[in-house]
Amino acid sequence: MQFYARAKHFYREVPATEEGMMGDYIELSSTDIESSREFLRKFIGGPGKAGTERALDCGSGIGRVTKHVLLPVFKSVELVDMMENFLAEAQNYLQGKKDRVKMYYCYSLQEFTPAPQKYDVIWIQWVSGYLTDKDLLEFLIRCQNGLKDNGIVILKDNMAREGCILDPLDSSVIRDLSILQSLVEKSGLTILQQERQKGFPEQCVPVWMLAMQKDPGLP
Ligand SMILES: C[S@@+](CC[C@H](N)C(=O)[O-])C[C@H]1O[C@@H](n2cnc3c(N)ncnc32)[C@H](O)[C@@H]1O
Repeated sequence: MQFYARAKHFYREVPATEEGMMGDYIELSSTDIESSREFLRKFIGGPGKAGTERALDCGSGIGRVTKHVLLPVFKSVELVDMMENFLAEAQNYLQGKKDRVKMYYCYSLQEFTPAPQKYDVIWIQWVSGYLTDKDLLEFLIRCQNGLKDNGIVILKDNMAREGCILDPLDSSVIRDLSILQSLVEKSGLTILQQERQKGFPEQCVPVWMLAMQKDPGLP
């Protein structure tokens, strides 16, 4: 429990701004957004692909991903984050598009269950490291149930070059790609594609995007 309490404590001091969401790497935000848009485009809108009705932004913060990546594509978006003040700020930050943001869920992901078969895309960015292996695995299983037919989960996060690194400052872990892949496999999701974020400085920890689908053989 201390692991989660520490992260909450850390985020109480983080400003509800784009800078806060980017952890002092604000200059990388536009490259991040551009690559996310391109990656998403491959999996939506077409026969056998995900629809564009509704997306869920997990660990949304103030809604940076919602604003720049999801709202330009989906008719409606829902946000979930553990910090009430970030969700409150989201209502200002997303002004003008607020009518298409249907829900603000103030929950920790380890306690959140997406409604069954509701979402075309579930986006999980820069938040998976705040969950323990067990809770991330269980959350991915619950996400599968939240997907519509042909729906996908996209997870984007920092990946360690090897092993698992604990960051005591914000109480998060950075897993290497193979550890994450094995959690994904255990959850029953299938990886459709994985791609490393390009254009970030070499000294930054690698960032990867994974698109995942429910095993079509499963109910
Ligand atoms: C680095 S920010 C990223 C925000 C957003 N995904 C983005 O890319 O702009 C991490 C976010 O995850 C949220 N968060 C951290 N741990 C969480 C948890 N266990 N459940 C839900 N949200 C969490 C924080 O409140 C914060 O908004």
